[in-house]
Formats: sequence, structure tokens, C-alpha cells
Amino acid sequence: MGDVDKAAVAQAENVSDKPRKRGCLGHLARFWWAYLIVLVVIVVIVVPVVLLVGVPKIAQNKLDDAELILDGIVVTNTQGQNFSMSINSTIKSDGSVHAKIDGFQGVMYLEDHEPHTPFAKIDFPETTSDALQTVNVTQFVPIENLEALTRFNTWLLVNDSLRVTVEGDTHVHVRGISRSYAVTFKKTITIPGLRGLNGTVVKPTWVSLKPDEKGNNFRATTVIPNRSPVSFELGNVTFHNYLLGREVGTVFIDNLTLRPGTNEYPLRATIDNGAVIDALGQKPYCEQNGVLPFQIRGKTVVNHGQSLPYFADALAAYNQTVSIPIGEAVKSSLGVTVPCGGLGGGNN
Ligand SMILES: *[C@@H]1O[C@H](CO)[C@@H](O)[C@H](O)[C@H]1NC(C)=O
Ligand SMILES: *[C@@H]1O[C@H](CO)[C@@H](O)[C@H](O)[C@H]1NC(C)=O
Ligand SMILES: *[C@@H]1O[C@H](CO)[C@@H](O)[C@H](O)[C@H]1NC(C)=O
Ligand SMILES: *[C@@H]1O[C@H](CO)[C@@H](O)[C@H](O)[C@H]1NC(C)=O
Ligand SMILES: *[C@@H]1O[C@H](CO)[C@@H](O)[C@H](O)[C@H]1NC(C)=O
Ligand SMILES: *[C@@H]1O[C@H](CO)[C@@H](O)[C@H](O)[C@H]1NC(C)=O
Ligand SMILES: *[C@@H]1O[C@H](CO)[C@@H](O)[C@H](O)[C@H]1NC(C)=O
Ligand SMILES: *[C@@H]1O[C@H](CO)[C@@H](O)[C@H](O)[C@H]1NC(C)=O
Repeated sequence: MGDVDKAAVAQAENVSDKPRKRGCLGHLARFWWAYLIVLVVIVVIVVPVVLLVGVPKIAQNKLDDAELILDGIVVTNTQGQNFSMSINSTIKSDGSVHAKIDGFQGVMYLEDHEPHTPFAKIDFPETTSDALQTVNVTQFVPIENLEALTRFNTWLLVNDSLRVTVEGDTHVHVRGISRSYAVTFKKTITIPGLRGLNGTVVKPTWVSLKPDEKGNNFRATTVIPNRSPVSFELGNVTFHNYLLGREVGTVFIDNLTLRPGTNEYPLRATIDNGAVIDALGQKPYCEQNGVLPFQIRGKTVVNHGQSLPYFADALAAYNQTVSIPIGEAVKSSLGVTVPCGGLGGGNN
């Protein structure tokens, strides 16, 4: 098509040049019909071909060449059936075509999971073809496919990175042309994931043989890294707590919102003290200053009374090993140092 256009344009240029150079009225009088045919050809064939085929193709190509950059996503007001999401993004293009792109509804899906099932829909505002364009969207999102949303959250939580595609049909208005052209906006972006919360630190602050009024016998400060650009409002989160392959208790973090970067929160737990003391007396832990390899895995996520399975199931998909220096806390809180072989024989 491009070659046809070029030939047609070249022809048109030649024709419009000739009369000026020759300037001969007699020639024009004799060959007026030839000029008329060329004019008709230009108006009837070339112009529509350029407008119907050339311009939309250029518009689509320019849109395809533009780059979508994700600056941040904030998920708030998370409820069982809906949440609010704001997305800040930047669209970069060469800015060579002056055009306006209509607002449209786009779907978001995991590029590397078939079939491509949308986990959210977003309403893109009208944009222009400026070289650098900020597109910030804040909207209410009803959950239409819980499974797809849970899978997205799971991949985001577990993986190093993941690819998400945003796709929607819209129209482009090119400056100077009255009609608009249908185009498809389709961009795949790579988002850094949370890597299973790898690097989470738990610093015990209090251990007790007797549970407190909430039934907890362990308190700590935790620092949780969020390597993604996504901020999540989770609410009250509980975790299964395993030690040496056995479930030994439940961990609670209240009012949790994971923002990009590191997140420091108080943590409380109800832990089987017997299992901890036993483990502390076993090699190699008794030789490692009482640092035990706990594993935590999501159990429940409840925000203002509503269960959020799309977070809970994602957090339940993965065991994160966290080495906790619990021996020190047992020593300072209970006055006990567990030797290799355990406390048997009245060592305390
Ligand atoms: C988007 O930008 C606004 C204005 O700078 C800021 O208040 C908001 O937190 C940002 N949201 C996201 C999702 O990054
Ligand atoms: C959002 O979901 C909650 C239940 O999770 C429901 O009570 C509420 O009506 C929903 N809001 C809207 C606007 O649909
Ligand atoms: C969009 O968000 C970015 C931050 O991500 C901010 O710098 C910019 O001012 C925001 N633009 C608008 C129009 O809100
Ligand atoms: C992301 O993690 C899931 C497992 O939770 C895995 O099945 C999938 O292949 C991973 N995807 C990528 C792109 O790494
Ligand atoms: C966690 O991160 C450390 C480095 O920060 C790396 O050595 C380790 O392999 C990671 N573990 C997992 C399970 O990804
Ligand atoms: C997590 O670890 C526990 C104990 O080792 C095990 O029973 C459970 O199956 C593991 N779960 C996952 C999802 O890996
Ligand atoms: C959690 O937030 C609620 C209000 O939403 C507040 O009443 C409560 O004290 C907070 N709890 C913690 C442990 O921060
Ligand atoms: C978490 O639980 C506490 C009490 O158990 C409650 O006061 C608080 O409102 C809850 N927070 C959220 C975000 O649901």
C-alpha cells in the first residue's frame, strides 16, 4: 500500500508542476480533459486511499510505537467485591503526529497466562500524542473475575517480575482531518514482583509463657520489603506459622498496607512455646545463637470485617522462610538459655 501511495503522490506532484513550467494556454486548452482526469483520480482515488488506508495505518503504527510506563498503582478501600485503584502512568512517543486519542475502557490481563482473562478494567481518559504524557487514573473497580484477580495477585506476590498487558479499542483524531480512525491500544508492561516477600525481618520484642489479653505470647517488629510499584491495603492479616515442618501457631499483623519500599509493622503471635524450646535445644540451632527458621504462609485477610480472598489466597500460595532470633528473646523475657540437648535435667 505504501508504494501505491508514494507512486500516486509522485504522480500528483509531477502533474501539478508541469502547468506552471510550461504556462501554455494552448496546451491547456487542448489537453484540459487529461488534467480533469488526473484531478478526478486524485480526488476520487488518491485522497480516499491516503485517508482510509494511509492515515489509519500511520496512526496505529504511531500508537504501537508509543511506550507505556507504569509509575505506580495504589489499591485502597479493598472490599470483598470491589476496591479502588489509582494508576499513574506516562506515555512516551516521538510526538511527530498531532492527534487526539479518545478515552476508552481497557482490560488488564497477565500476558504469560493463557487464556488471557482480564483481572481488571480501567477507563483511560482522552490523551494527545504529545511526546510525554501523564495519564493518572483513579477509579472504582468491581471484581468481575475473582480467579483472574487472585492469580494476578499471586504472581505479583511470588514472582521476580510479571508481564501485564493493557488493551482496548479506541479512536484517533488526526489534526486537520475530520473523520476519526479506529485503533487498538495494546501495551505490555513488565512489573517488578514482591518476590515472595523475601527479605522479611522479624525482631522479637517480647516472649511470654502466659498469653496476654489477646491470647498472644509473642510480639515483634517486622520489616517487610515490597519491591513492586504497587501499594495494597490489606487490613488485618494472619499467617500460618511453621517450625521444622510443623504448624506451631498463628501470626497476626493488624491494619497492614504494603507500600513500595520497606514496611515496618508491629507483629503479634500465638506460638507453641514447647515447640520453640525444643527446637532451640536441637543442633544446629543451639549452636547458632537461637536463630530459628520459621516459615509463614498467609491464612486470612480481613479488612473492616470483609474477607478478601483475592489477597488471602495469594498470600497462602507461598511459604516464606524467616529466620527469627527467638533464642535471645526467650533469654531476656524468660531468663532461659536453652543448651544443646534441651532444658531436661534442671538446667534452668
Ligand atoms: C499519583 O500521583 C499523585 C499526584 O502526584 C499522587 O498523589 C498519588 O499518590 C500517585 N498515585 C500513584 C498510584 O502513584
Ligand atoms: C462493594 O462491595 C461490597 C461488598 O464487598 C458491597 O457491600 C458494596 O455495596 C460494593 N459497592 C458497590 C458500590 O458496589
Ligand atoms: C501523575 O502522577 C505523577 C506521579 O506518579 C505526578 O508527578 C503527576 O503530577 C501526576 N499528574 C497529574 C496530572 O495528576
Ligand atoms: C509466576 O509464578 C507462577 C507461580 O506462582 C508461575 O506459575 C508463573 O509461571 C510465573 N510467571 C512468570 C512470568 O514468572
Ligand atoms: C532471597 O534473597 C536473597 C538475596 O537477597 C537470595 O540470596 C535468596 O536466594 C532469595 N531467596 C528466594 C527464595 O528467592
Ligand atoms: C508450607 O510449609 C508447610 C510446613 O513445612 C507445609 O506443610 C506446606 O504444605 C507448605 N505450603 C506451601 C504452599 O508450600
Ligand atoms: C487499626 O485501625 C483501626 C481503625 O481503622 C484502629 O481503631 C486500630 O487501633 C488500629 N489497630 C492497630 C493495631 O493499629
Ligand atoms: C483489625 O482488628 C481490630 C480488632 O481486632 C479492629 O479494631 C480493626 O478495626 C481491624 N482493622 C481492620 C483494618 O479491619
